[in-house]
Amino acid sequence: MQNVKTINRLAEITGKHPIHIKMFFLQYAKKTETIDEASFERDIIVYYKESPKPFVKWVGGKRQLAKQFREMNLYPPDEFDPKTGTYFEPFVGGGAMFFDLLPQKAVLSDLNSELITTYNVIKNDVEKLIGKLKEHKKKNTKEHFLEVRAWDLKKLSDVNIAARFIFLNRTCFNGMYRVNKSGGFNVPYGANKNPLICDEDNLMKVHKKLQNIEILNEDYKKVLGKAKKGDFVYFDPPYYPVNVTSSFTSYTKEGFFEKEQIELKDAFMKLHKKGCFVKLSNSNTPFINELYSGLDKNVKINQVFAGRAINSKGNKRGKVKEVVVVNY
Ligand SMILES: C[S@@+](CC[C@H](N)C(=O)[O-])C[C@H]1O[C@@H](n2cnc3c(N)ncnc32)[C@H](O)[C@@H]1O
Repeated sequence: MQNVKTINRLAEITGKHPIHIKMFFLQYAKKTETIDEASFERDIIVYYKESPKPFVKWVGGKRQLAKQFREMNLYPPDEFDPKTGTYFEPFVGGGAMFFDLLPQKAVLSDLNSELITTYNVIKNDVEKLIGKLKEHKKKNTKEHFLEVRAWDLKKLSDVNIAARFIFLNRTCFNGMYRVNKSGGFNVPYGANKNPLICDEDNLMKVHKKLQNIEILNEDYKKVLGKAKKGDFVYFDPPYYPVNVTSSFTSYTKEGFFEKEQIELKDAFMKLHKKGCFVKLSNSNTPFINELYSGLDKNVKINQVFAGRAINSKGNKRGKVKEVVVVNY
């Protein structure tokens, strides 16, 4: 697949970045000796139509930014070789970028243990999970929601933790994940109309995709010991608040404040010096702009627009500018 015109045409048809087309081709070439272009085209279109999507709604989810990332060349650069390089997403959340890129080799991690348990249950025990979700679906009322929310996680099996997690995510207010100081989920019931509690078809697709993906419950700093030259790392941390009242830092009970943002910048630079391709999203604030300015001629700050819906007052849900820092 050396023909740039063909790559760009297939990227246009599938709505994917050209890197996907190349990655798909490399996999395809492993299985097929002589490649006929028409079959390749048919198979790639079917593959992307059938591809898995994020299975939870996540505040800060990047789904709506995929198009801008593509247009502004903020996706892995051509030098990232999907055959040898690994894709790391150490603040994975709902994994919107992972599901958009669908890399062959990836390590996904997050400090949220319920979330990571859910990824692993989808990977290893999806049928049981679907069964449990069907049970929740039958009983979807506010009373059931409050009862499930109050369950003691320590007494639950991994499958029940995962089913509870997806059920609460689909039925709570705005699909938010927020915890109190002791780590308990505290988002109210959402009274959502027809929530998709058990998306069996998508869960099966996610299950298939996760088979050779490593999924870990750990701090993002662990990526420093794992990523090698030529790997791609995407950091999507809890954002530095735009102002005090808009502060939303409670994805985990640990929080993520100025000190943590500075440590993250240091991690970014260590990976940069190692020869990794690094990308980071954050808020467009003076603090973040200063933090990433003048570090190296290859470290550039870009601005993108994001429609975010974390403000509880509907009329304040405007388009917020975000920064995307890249070293390529
Ligand atoms: C902005 S969200 C990521 C959104 C995600 N990219 C998506 O598309 O849905 C930030 C994530 O970082 C996780 N997190 C917070 N502190 C962390 C840490 N020290 N190490 C790893 N993950 C952390 C949170 O649990 C949360 O899932």
